[in-house]
Order: sequence, then structure tokens, then C-alpha cells
Amino acid sequence: RTVYLNGSWLAEADAKVSIFDRGFLFADAIYEVTGVVGGKLLEYAGHAARLQRSMAELGIACPLTQDELLAVHREIVRRNDLQEGLIYLQISRGAADRDFAFPTNAAPTLVLFTQAKAVLDNPKVKTGISVALVADQRWARRDIKTVQLLYPSMAKMQAASVGADDAWLVEDGFVTEASSATAHIISQDGTLITRGLSSAILHGITRLSVLDIARKAGLAVEERAFTPEEARDAAEAFITSATSFVLPVTQIDGQPVGDGKPGPRTLKLRQLYIENKL
Ligand code: PDD
Repeated sequence: RTVYLNGSWLAEADAKVSIFDRGFLFADAIYEVTGVVGGKLLEYAGHAARLQRSMAELGIACPLTQDELLAVHREIVRRNDLQEGLIYLQISRGAADRDFAFPTNAAPTLVLFTQAKAVLDNPKVKTGISVALVADQRWARRDIKTVQLLYPSMAKMQAASVGADDAWLVEDGFVTEASSATAHIISQDGTLITRGLSSAILHGITRLSVLDIARKAGLAVEERAFTPEEARDAAEAFITSATSFVLPVTQIDGQPVGDGKPGPRTLKLRQLYIENKL
């Protein structure tokens, strides 16, 4: 792969970052994941806007202008001849002597790489995924897309240990989100229920588009927190993210959701999302 590091295009083996980088020492870094299908960027404007917001929240200055950032995204697709997959972007505060206080003089480290992946033809669309409920023990600013991903990794491993594909995180009796995706349900009366935006969850770019598409398709939408019990009693459940689009959830803690098959409205939303965004 050809990767991008601070203005240079390099073979991945030649891309080196300091051991004093605050991304490495403090997880003092943010990231974005943008989907690519047919060599085209998906939902770029949304990801770019969220990136700016995350940087503003942490006081990290972007070394590139908005136009330059878009050009780098397009160039990395071209250089790697990426047809389908994702672009990972990470920006850290940079390298400095180890100190909890933010350095005043560090230059941010900007990295982009691509990952080829079949995102359109996901075999899980046909079966749905199983999720296990796991306590949400992440920090309280989940609206900032930081690289502090240890707890989501642990939650995913806990889910895997009971044979589930992913974790749905639960806090104070309500589902927050999946380990790396937004959680949604469709109630027995056909209402799409998804948690409202706050610092409790990442403000999903796919979530926003899918809610818009759902409303236009005539589905009632309620943005509110739901409980694990409501999720178990739901007609359908699904997750959304840049790389999964709309993916059915067919089992929660070993219990089938609805008839245990991917829900018809979920599959319709996936189809509409793909038609709208590709
Ligand atoms: N994850 N919630 C969390 C905790 C996430 O990490 C993600 C994305 C989402 C969905 O956001 P979006 O629709 O903007 O992708 C929700 C990415 C894909 C990842 O970490 O790989």
C-alpha cells in the first residue's frame, strides 16, 4: 500500500511516526473512516465536517485546508487503485516530551491509509449479526471520534467469547450504541427508534442519512434512548456505520429479534441507502 504521512506519499513500510507521538502515548488523536465504493468516496462531506468538529473539541489544528484534505482522499484512492473498502484518517496532536499538559509547539501527525474490503457484498446481510449486551464503560465524550478504542475492543472480545458478532453497549439501563456502529430498532408498531444525539454516542454520519431516508420513505422515527428489553421485543434491529451501511441484527443476547431473520424494513433501508449514496 501507498500511505500518506504529513505531506509525503510512502510505501507503508517506510512510514514512521515518533515513539513520542501523543497519539501513541496518550491516545491524543482523532480519526475518521470513510467508505469507498467503485473508487468513489461515500458521505465525504459528513466525515469532513465531523473531523473538523472532533479537532475543534480537542484543540488540534488541521495541517491541511479542506480542499487539500479532499484532494488527499482522492489521491490515496487513485494511488492504491482502491475500488471498494475504506480510507482511515488519523490526526494526533504530534510528538512532544511526555507531559499530561498539551504541548504548545507540537506539529500534528496526519496519517491516511486505505483498506480494501467488500462492503457492498457483505455476507452478514443475509443472516444478520448477533449482538451481546455489554456494560458501556467508555469515557463520557463519545461524540469525539478519538482513537481511545481499548474499551470498544474489550467489549467486542467479550461479545466474541459468548459467540456473538458484536456488542451493544448498555449504560444506566439504556442501549448507547454498538462497539463501532450506531444501534437502531424498529418497534412492533413500525417505528424506527434510535438514540438522540448527545455526548453519550458518536454522531454517526450513516445514522443521519438513514434517518432522513427513513422519514422520506414514510417510516415514523423516534430519536430517544431504548432499553435492552425494548430491543429484545422489537420487530427488527440493525446497526449503521460507514463500512456496514445498514446491517440487520437478528439476535440479542442469544434471543431472536422478531422471527430471527433480517427484517424487511431494515433490508429496504439498506437498499435505499445504497441507491441514494453510491
Ligand atoms: N466506526 N458509533 C461508534 C462508536 C463508531 O465507532 C462508529 C463508526 C459509528 C458509526 O458512525 P458512522 O456512521 O459515521 O461511520 C457509531 C467506524 C466505522 C470505525 O471505527 O471503524
